[in-house]
Amino acid sequence: MSEVTAPVAPVVAIENLSKHVGEDVRLRGWLYNKRSSAKLHFLEVRDGTGIVQAVVFKGDVGDEAFARGDKLTQETSLVVTGTVKEHGKRKGEYELGVKSFEVIGAPSQEYPISPKDHGTDFLMDNRHLWLRSKRQHAIMRVRHTIVKAVRDFFDQDGFTLLDAPIFTPNACEGTSTLFETDYHGEPAYLTQSGQLYMEAGAAAFGKVYCFGPTFRAEKSKTRRHLAEFWMVEPEVAFLTLEEDMNLAERFLAYVVGRVLETRQEELKVLERDTSNLEKVIPPFPRITYERAIEILHENGHPEAKFGDDLGADEETVISNQFDRPVIVSHYPAEMKAFYFKRDASRPELTLNMDVLAPEGYGEIIGGGIREESLETLVKAIEAHKLSMDAFQWYLDLRRYGSFPHGGFGLGIERTVAWTCGLPHVRETIPFPRMLNRLAP
Ligand code: 4AD
Ligand code: MG
Repeated sequence: MSEVTAPVAPVVAIENLSKHVGEDVRLRGWLYNKRSSAKLHFLEVRDGTGIVQAVVFKGDVGDEAFARGDKLTQETSLVVTGTVKEHGKRKGEYELGVKSFEVIGAPSQEYPISPKDHGTDFLMDNRHLWLRSKRQHAIMRVRHTIVKAVRDFFDQDGFTLLDAPIFTPNACEGTSTLFETDYHGEPAYLTQSGQLYMEAGAAAFGKVYCFGPTFRAEKSKTRRHLAEFWMVEPEVAFLTLEEDMNLAERFLAYVVGRVLETRQEELKVLERDTSNLEKVIPPFPRITYERAIEILHENGHPEAKFGDDLGADEETVISNQFDRPVIVSHYPAEMKAFYFKRDASRPELTLNMDVLAPEGYGEIIGGGIREESLETLVKAIEAHKLSMDAFQWYLDLRRYGSFPHGGFGLGIERTVAWTCGLPHVRETIPFPRMLNRLAP
């Protein structure tokens, strides 16, 4: 004869509670916050998918359990069993009428991050715990959606994913931001960009992209530079600069559209004004670098001149003229990487394009058309004092069926900062690596 046991309520994720109104369920999670009165404990429980209010009524659970509830501290892990109900006051929200709860792990000491305000350094030192908080949770979910949308866009558009290596002998983006390491006795660099490898891929597959971490030893502290950041880099054979711009704007509109479609709740937590994101629809305005210099002249920067790099302040002035991302093309060749193709009619300019995000977020995409002449490229490698040996494989792409091609790189963290409306990229990646920060 089998023993008769009470049925155990099924485990349900908080984000799915709406499908279980009136049913008994079990939640497994952590105590986020608690308020109590003589007869009630309001436990805010989080499980990674959401936060729900679990109401412990003395009359329902009994004196002993109610007293145990008194002692629960923040970040205790627990299992709560109860009945799902519509929230008494907030429409579209749910709560749990608790029948019983079990502590799994009580904190051995007080949780360091309380709901009060903490300084950024303190929070950064506790990043491994900070990720549990509501705001960080919302940011990481938006990041997840952006990463997924990036992959979906290229996968649906005929691109083949081709992973680029992390260790490389090549300085793609100049020698001043290289992380050098020892590779079995040989010097190697952590990759600054997968682009050179994608150029090889474009000759093999036509349309390729890579998506991975990239590294730059940025020596200055800014709100948009990380030492390790994620970049997606499409590269396409037989592409023109105009087609490159078309691809960039279609891609960006797709990614932002997906965030708007699926992450309204997170954007609300972040108090993001989404009206600006709703305007991210092609066509984007397109201007040249020379026009950008004129805009600076017209807007309080008379000192700006041809050849100046556009820094964060200048980019903000330029992007403030437009209500959606703006594409800036044809920068002076002297300030650009060795691989750019020059404009045939104005050889002092490159066939490049940057996309500047609105609201002062600055450059989120950089790309352009690559030099295809072997001879010109050899001269450029010499002029940039790069290792000719290390670039022999790259020059092979010009020796064997050279072809016009181009692409771009989008920085994920700057894109997350912009879509979430964050002042600094340090909150856009789970564990940021910056000047002066390697831990946790
Ligand atoms: O403009 P960048 O340097 O372009 C390249 O690396 C090209 N090789 C890409 C290509 O054409 N395949 O970098 C591209 C983007 C920037 O627009 C920015 O969004 C991001 O990468 N980025 C950074 N993000 C965070 N921290 C840093 N230090 C970054 N440096 C660049
Ligand atoms: Mg750039």
